[in-house]
Amino acid sequence: MSDKPVCVSDYELHAKRILPKAVFDYYFSGADEQETLADNIAAFSRWRFCPRVLRDVSRVDMSATVLGELLSMPVCVAATAMQRMAHPEGETATARACTSTGTGMMLSSWATSTIEEVAEASGSGVRWMQLYIYKDRALTQSLVRRAEKAGYKGIFVTVDTPYLGRRRNDVRNRFKLPSHLRMTNFESPDLAFSSKEGYGEDSGLAVYVAQAIDPTLKWEDIAWLKSITDLPVVVKGVLRAEDAKEALKYGVDGILVSNHGARQLDGVPATIDVLPEIVEAVEGRVEVYLDGGIRRGTDVLKALALGAKAVFVGRPVLWALACEGERGVSEMLQILREELHLALALAGCRSLKEVDRSIVRRSFFASRI
Ligand SMILES: Cc1cc2nc3c(=O)[nH]c(=O)nc-3n(C[C@H](O)[C@H](O)[C@H](O)COP(=O)(O)O)c2cc1C
Repeated sequence: MSDKPVCVSDYELHAKRILPKAVFDYYFSGADEQETLADNIAAFSRWRFCPRVLRDVSRVDMSATVLGELLSMPVCVAATAMQRMAHPEGETATARACTSTGTGMMLSSWATSTIEEVAEASGSGVRWMQLYIYKDRALTQSLVRRAEKAGYKGIFVTVDTPYLGRRRNDVRNRFKLPSHLRMTNFESPDLAFSSKEGYGEDSGLAVYVAQAIDPTLKWEDIAWLKSITDLPVVVKGVLRAEDAKEALKYGVDGILVSNHGARQLDGVPATIDVLPEIVEAVEGRVEVYLDGGIRRGTDVLKALALGAKAVFVGRPVLWALACEGERGVSEMLQILREELHLALALAGCRSLKEVDRSIVRRSFFASRI
């Protein structure tokens, strides 16, 4: 990149210039009219800070834990599929960047690097496996076994994708993987989303999901998942207090408040807007995390103030990976770390323990220059 990026959106602008259109569209798109996509970002501007002053903020401790794993900051990397479309090293570059930053990486079931390759790249770093439950339960179980064996520290099971949301540009582009890439966790060409397979006039991924992913999923399947693994299980994609309470009944170990980066049901609320009611429903019994629209350190602080234990970022990783591979992801995470550090200090918080609901309040206006 000619100019050094100073904020996360600088990576997005540059990535748009350099990525093939179909790849940029797949990474960027939300569902349908993309109302939720816009709101995921705008909603953060409807919260304002009420900083504490005169508190000696010369030292700020940003360390955090997720599922008992110590991280250097409460900002982790969300599962995003097919990262080798952004950069030849794909998920392995992301894994190395996460390890050097001291944060955790969630690997997509639909990665273009294997569970084992990413484990090797991640080394001593914290990694979790995102799981799609396939119609073929033996196949699903084998993904869990491989993650256990390769030292992943938890399973994030995605519960908002019985079918793929309708992303219009992917339909227009007849989206499929470039011919040199596959979802490498799967052997057979049809499960590997190999471009050799014909997907007709639709988004290839929507066809893939309809063929392979189980739309009959229900709460009992979470009990099944818990029964086949000792790893902590986090449900990814909860947007209602009732569902959070139901998840507790099934013994989940964490809840990720997520609308899948606004890629599934358009018109659902921004995640930051539903976070408080879910945190309230859970009553501290398990950890609650958030993803969707996190682009600035101040977004992270608002999510923490409203009760998230940590947040996950999706698209920013893809933009940074496209721009500069591993170095790009490291630098992007470093930008978020520095922004969060400054936001904490300016809000008068010397550690994450001092972040609470009193440092934010709702505002009617979302203003940006
Ligand atoms: C290009 C792309 C691919 C994604 N792939 C997956 C996936 O394979 N599994 C999954 O559970 N979520 C997936 N997600 C959703 C992310 O895990 C996360 O919920 C979302 O990106 C967070 O929003 P953000 O992109 O605004 O940070 C994907 C999101 C994007 C943008």
